[in-house]
Amino acid sequence: MLANVSKNVFLHASQNRVLNKAAKKWGLRFGAGQVVAGDTIEGAMKKVRELNEKGLVCTLDHLGEFVSSREEATEATQYNVRTLEAMAANGVDCNLSVKMTQLGLDIDRSFCLDNMRRILDTAKQYNNFVRIDMEDYAHCQMTLDILRELRETYDNVGTVIQSYLFRAEQDVKDLKGVPLRLVKGAYQESPTVAFQNKEDVDKNYVRIIEEHLLNGSYTAIASHDHNIIDKVKEMVKKYNIPRTQFEFQMLYGFRSELQLSLVQEGYKVRVYVPFGKDWFGYFMRRLAERPQNVAFALKGFFSK
Ligand code: FDA
Repeated sequence: MLANVSKNVFLHASQNRVLNKAAKKWGLRFGAGQVVAGDTIEGAMKKVRELNEKGLVCTLDHLGEFVSSREEATEATQYNVRTLEAMAANGVDCNLSVKMTQLGLDIDRSFCLDNMRRILDTAKQYNNFVRIDMEDYAHCQMTLDILRELRETYDNVGTVIQSYLFRAEQDVKDLKGVPLRLVKGAYQESPTVAFQNKEDVDKNYVRIIEEHLLNGSYTAIASHDHNIIDKVKEMVKKYNIPRTQFEFQMLYGFRSELQLSLVQEGYKVRVYVPFGKDWFGYFMRRLAERPQNVAFALKGFFSK
C-alpha cells in the first residue's frame, strides 16, 4: 500500500515539467550522482573507461525529457553526435541510447526522423550502434514505425520492447532479426494496455525473451532481477544459444556486484550509463521502481 503511494508520487514527479526544468539548474542532487554519471561528456567518458576496465561494456544516454522546441531537439541531436565522436576519440567500448521525444517526436515526426538519421550516419561512420529507448505507451506505435522506416536504410539501429504491454509478444514476433533490448517497462500504463501485476509482467518477460532468442535474434536482457537472470542462464543452456547472441544489461549504479559476477562467469554485460543536466525524471522513475532506492537516495541527500 505504502509502496504503491510512493510509486505514484515518484512517477508523477518524474512527469512534472516544472520540477524537471528546475532540477536542470540545481545540478545532481538527492543522491542522483550515484545513478547518473555526471553532467558532461567528459565526466561520462571517464566513468565508461572505468567500467570498460572492469570488463563491462556500456551504452550512454544523454538525458533529456519534455523537449518542446526545435532548438532543444537540434541541440540534443548535436549533443548525441558529439557523444558518438567522443566515444570514438576515447576508444571506449560503448554504444548510444536515445529517446525519440528528445529528438523532437512530439514536435514534428519528419524532423525527428531527420535528427535520428544524422545520429545514425555518425554512428555508422564509427561502426557503432544506436538503440531507441522505449517511452510511454502513447509513443510506442510511433517509435516502432520510426524504427521500421530507419531499418530500411540502417542496420545499426534497434529498440526496446516492454513486457508489461499486452502487445509485446506480437511486437517481438514482428521484429524478428532486429536487435532488441527486452525490459519489463518503467512507465505507469492503463490496465487496458498493460499487465498490472508483477507475476504477469514477469511471465510475459520470460516468454518474449525465449521468443526472441529462439528466432535467432540478438537479445539484450535488461533487468536487475536475479530470478530472471537465472532463468535466462538455464534457457540458453537448454537451447544451446551461443553467448554471442545475447547480453545482459543493467543500469549504472545498480547491482554492481551482480554485474561483475556475470562478467566473471563469461557473460557480456552492458551498463546503461545516463548523464547530463536533465536527470530528474530518470531519477524519479528509478525511485518509483524500488522503495529501497528511497533509502539509497536519502542517504545521498543527507551526505551532500
Ligand atoms: P524489478 O524491479 O522487477 O525487480 C525484481 C526483483 O529483482 C526485486 O524484487 C529484487 O529482488 C531484485 N532487484 C531489482 N532491482 C534491484 C536492485 N537495485 N538491488 C537489488 N535487487 C534488485 N524501461 C522502459 O520502459 N524503457 C526503456 O527503454 C528501458 N531501458 C532500460 C535499460 C536498462 C539497461 C535497464 C536495466 C532497464 C531499462 N528500463 C526501461 C527499465 C525497466 O523497464 C524496469 O523498469 C527496471 O529494469 C526494473 O525492473 P527489473 O527487471 O530490473 O526488476
